[in-house]
Amino acid sequence: MPPPQFWKPGAAAPGSSLDRETEAEGSLLPSTSRNAHLSLEAQRQRLPIYKHREKLLYCVEKYRVVIVVGQTGSGKSTQIPQYLHEAGWTKENHVVACTQPRRVAATSVATRVAEEVGSVLGDEVGYSIRFEELSSPTRTRIKYMTDGMLFRETMMDPLLSRYSVIMIDEAHERGAYTDLLLGLLKKIMRKRPELRVIISSATIDAEDFLEYFNSNADGTDRTKDDAIIVSLEGRMFPVEVCYLKDPPVDYVEAAVQTVFNIHMKEPPGDILVFLTGREEIDGALQTVADRIQTISKAAPKLLPLPLYATLPPEEQDLIFEPPPRDTRKIIFSTNIAEASVTIDGIKYVVDSGFVKMKTFNPRNGMDVLSVTPCSLASANQRAGRAGRTSAGKCFRLYPSSVIPTRNPYSPMPISTPPELTRSDISVYLLQLKALGIDNLAKFDFMSPPPSEMMVRALEFWYCLKAIDEEGRLTRPLGVRMAEVPLDPMMAAILLNSQEFRCGEEILTIAAMTQVQNVFNMSDGGNKAMLSELERRKFTAEEGDHLTLLNAYNAFTRYGQKDKSWCGNHRINHKALSRAMAIRKQLKKYLDRFGIKVESCQGDAKRLRRCLVSGYFKNAARMMPDGTYRSARENAVLHVHPSSVMFTRQPSTGWVIFHEVIETTKSFMRDLTVVEEEWLVELAPHFYTFKGGGLKKH
Ligand code: CDP
Ligand code: MG
Repeated sequence: MPPPQFWKPGAAAPGSSLDRETEAEGSLLPSTSRNAHLSLEAQRQRLPIYKHREKLLYCVEKYRVVIVVGQTGSGKSTQIPQYLHEAGWTKENHVVACTQPRRVAATSVATRVAEEVGSVLGDEVGYSIRFEELSSPTRTRIKYMTDGMLFRETMMDPLLSRYSVIMIDEAHERGAYTDLLLGLLKKIMRKRPELRVIISSATIDAEDFLEYFNSNADGTDRTKDDAIIVSLEGRMFPVEVCYLKDPPVDYVEAAVQTVFNIHMKEPPGDILVFLTGREEIDGALQTVADRIQTISKAAPKLLPLPLYATLPPEEQDLIFEPPPRDTRKIIFSTNIAEASVTIDGIKYVVDSGFVKMKTFNPRNGMDVLSVTPCSLASANQRAGRAGRTSAGKCFRLYPSSVIPTRNPYSPMPISTPPELTRSDISVYLLQLKALGIDNLAKFDFMSPPPSEMMVRALEFWYCLKAIDEEGRLTRPLGVRMAEVPLDPMMAAILLNSQEFRCGEEILTIAAMTQVQNVFNMSDGGNKAMLSELERRKFTAEEGDHLTLLNAYNAFTRYGQKDKSWCGNHRINHKALSRAMAIRKQLKKYLDRFGIKVESCQGDAKRLRRCLVSGYFKNAARMMPDGTYRSARENAVLHVHPSSVMFTRQPSTGWVIFHEVIETTKSFMRDLTVVEEEWLVELAPHFYTFKGGGLKKH
């Protein structure tokens, strides 16, 4: 039976900039204001987890691994580290670590916990996310961090000896670094019997973690177990789930219609709508704004709000505030509201059934961010958000036949496949090698990556000269690449910049590719036109990387201390300031490695050649019809509308690009014009010349 048409992702207008969901910016989310009249201590005691405090502490004493399952909002992330701290697990300079899959979750939970503990953020309670550390090496006792940061820490301290307890939060999401950490922790635990590990997970996956960690595998004598599941049966109200009879043609439109139906027919209560990304959310808000005019003046008011990771903090505040009287709050959110962020007062959930996810696409040989059906586990989690404060309703914008337990042919998976099994693993592979884990086949992955992906990753690293023929890390290049906190391609470019004598400029470009929304381009209509005109002032014929460089240089000269300059030129002050901070940190790496940082003195060719030395894999050629073909897989690619190359043609016919985003088409983002010969010259193992065109080696 072919999958129903409906499961094609709804049309996403390729007009505005896309949210980079996978590398969410870390802006702080404020704590909720519910129960604000209660003291923080009283609020803590009202959380569902509080009843389980003693049991949890007992289990952590007795078992080496404790798997905690419980509804979102029950207090796992904020309370468990505090209980451990209070119970003495942080004595003798020990630290309790709690990892989060997302930056925004790490900073927001740390902020809340610092408040509860009565500490200044960065003192007793701190956090560490990429390019941002707010903690004290001597005083911090509870440390929230992204799982990637803790993984990196094992390069410096292989046994993670500072930590007495490590809590892996949201482990059911099975992000790549979560899985890698689980494997490493298993190894570390063999050498550190006193180390305790806490896994927080959704109920559905708890048994898998137990099986993975419990060394008492045959399970006949339960007293020999060294892992246990603790369930916090938090208060949950029933949620009635409704389905659409027929799949909608456009789920964004269907979501908006459903919102108005709820608003006109259902009792008071706020609405949470799950869409997949910023551009859909902005579209939905626009439609709601247009349609609000048509509803009766007598009807209660509507307050529509967006929620996504890159939202500016001022706008995030609004999400958590109770709406004005007689007003229904409607939040259009990405899956960030699924588990990481808790909003009180939600009674209705509208679920599109889709999520934006990074997956390896064998057609073009790279990871792409694409809209795909979410898993049943996600759908259930979303529905649960309606039942936190009272009985609720969840409206699923798909027919019940899509539920995989009812239909084995459904495109909806039961649970989300672990990231390591569905994405390009090259970045992780090098880091594992740097940890001395050379034989990846022997690493105890909870779900091993497909061997084809391992081979691909090895080949890629070999072409980047990071490993030798035997698969060993090269010195110093490979070792340094693993250390620099950038994606493999950018790391290579940065380290190669000495050879091309353009370190000054490459540092800037590397930093600028790490921040989002450099130009405020998202406004519609006339404003978009003005933004585009402003951006043209910085636009370089050579493409986006040099345009970013121009914007940065103008910013440091004119805009750094002058916000109105930034406003006038549609330059995002916050993003640029962050790029400056990142650049400074990257410079420290180069200094430490003794890499000479020179300026190319305006010689753009050197810069572009240096970019090719890392980006060679992401090369594409323009076709007569204006589309592109990837150099190696010959896959069809398009220029993303946000690129300065959208309205230009590469003089040489060739470009390299940073990444591919899939919506209605495969879009290349961040492009630079290059020469075909450079690809062969700088990546001889990846390409060879045959008959005038590039051929796969
Ligand atoms: O981790 P889990 O979902 O079980 O709950 P949590 O994140 O520890 O949140 C427990 C409660 O703390 C929430 O219901 C919020 O009321 C509050 N909280 C907050 O006010 N601000 C945050 N940034 C996080 C949690
Ligand atoms: Mg949590």
